[in-house]
Amino acid sequence: MKRRTLLKAFAGIGCLAGIPYSLWRGVRYPRLSLESQPLDYTLKTDDIALELIDCFASNSHRFFSAYADASNIIFLRAFAPEPKIIVARSDKTQTLVINNISTEAILHSKIPIQEITVGITRVIEIPAQIEALAIEWKFPEHESYEFATIGDTGGAEELGWCIHRAHELGAKFFIHLGDFNYQASDYDTSVEQFVKAPLPCYITIGNHDFHDNGLIVDKFLKDIGPLNHTFNLQAVRYINVDTAASFLPVSGGKRADMMNALSKDKQVYDDTVTFTHRPFYDPRPGEDHDFGNVFEKKWFVKSLKQSNIDTILAGHIHNFFDTESEGIRILIAGQGLGHEDLIHKRQVAKMLVGRVSRGQKVVYRTEDLSMPFEMHCHPHASKWRSDNDDTFAQKMNQMCAPIDARIDIKSGKY
Ligand SMILES: [Fe+2]
Repeated sequence: MKRRTLLKAFAGIGCLAGIPYSLWRGVRYPRLSLESQPLDYTLKTDDIALELIDCFASNSHRFFSAYADASNIIFLRAFAPEPKIIVARSDKTQTLVINNISTEAILHSKIPIQEITVGITRVIEIPAQIEALAIEWKFPEHESYEFATIGDTGGAEELGWCIHRAHELGAKFFIHLGDFNYQASDYDTSVEQFVKAPLPCYITIGNHDFHDNGLIVDKFLKDIGPLNHTFNLQAVRYINVDTAASFLPVSGGKRADMMNALSKDKQVYDDTVTFTHRPFYDPRPGEDHDFGNVFEKKWFVKSLKQSNIDTILAGHIHNFFDTESEGIRILIAGQGLGHEDLIHKRQVAKMLVGRVSRGQKVVYRTEDLSMPFEMHCHPHASKWRSDNDDTFAQKMNQMCAPIDARIDIKSGKY
């Protein structure tokens, strides 16, 4: 057999073998790629072995300037309110820095653990010669509490305002509905703002966070957490579902694994809070800012119903809607840039707030986002500013003139 024929035969066999693998793992599109590998929840060094639950070893240590020498410190990020660390082995004392934990959460451990709280960051010392020790944080029981949510913020001052507003409203945590990455500098500025936030931030990935000029989903996995995840807090189940990019087949990947597992969950909950980026339905007449793929929509709706989920929270559409499709309530809170304020020349943008009360379903309401108009001096609003020249636009331009002079157009930083 000629060499070329032999190579073709091997390539053909490889392709045939690769098809089932790809179908099981899932192909993501647009920006064709295989579903990413799962995060590693075990951490081993020469001195320590950890098992991580609801937290992971993040890349965000670059934002902790207090630790000039970070080489001997392990940096973790929690992506649920009650993270747990199991110390399988520690040969010498080890410092752990765990970010994104509520200031109210209380550390539980069988032995005393030295702990310092700095905002939403905990610094703990794991003693030497430890085996099979569980260290976990518990969020205190509340008769009722609230969380705040919005998406489509970009990563500049508007994001900072949304986090600030959630905190100001008394939310116990902030759920970001995806799309914090609209320009080159946004990934880093967003991660920094999440790390330094006054309240924990749980984030679902948006299409702009998944791919930009190329695939950038790895940044999310290194800095923020998994793409699909579920956690329970008191009697409410929270589900973060990745709808950033479509799957082929629609039942491929870890998203389907999670939804299948949820459909077998027989526990009784007061309610389920499902947060995702893209809604499967666009309520605006003639618009199609939804899944696009009818098979994916069908699979998604069926999966929600199999898990007794009757409500989803989404972003992607830069407005607020409380709508319904296929028997599922869809709350779209995509006003994180507050752009509707410019269009209406007054503050109309809304932040969604969920009130969780023991024994009841979550009650949703909106609160004014109240974003100061100076936030729109950012380049995100430059198109609106160049397209409008009425009295309001002139006032905006006048107000923004000193800020415009300070903006680094390339980085978008003030
Ligand atoms: Fe989006």
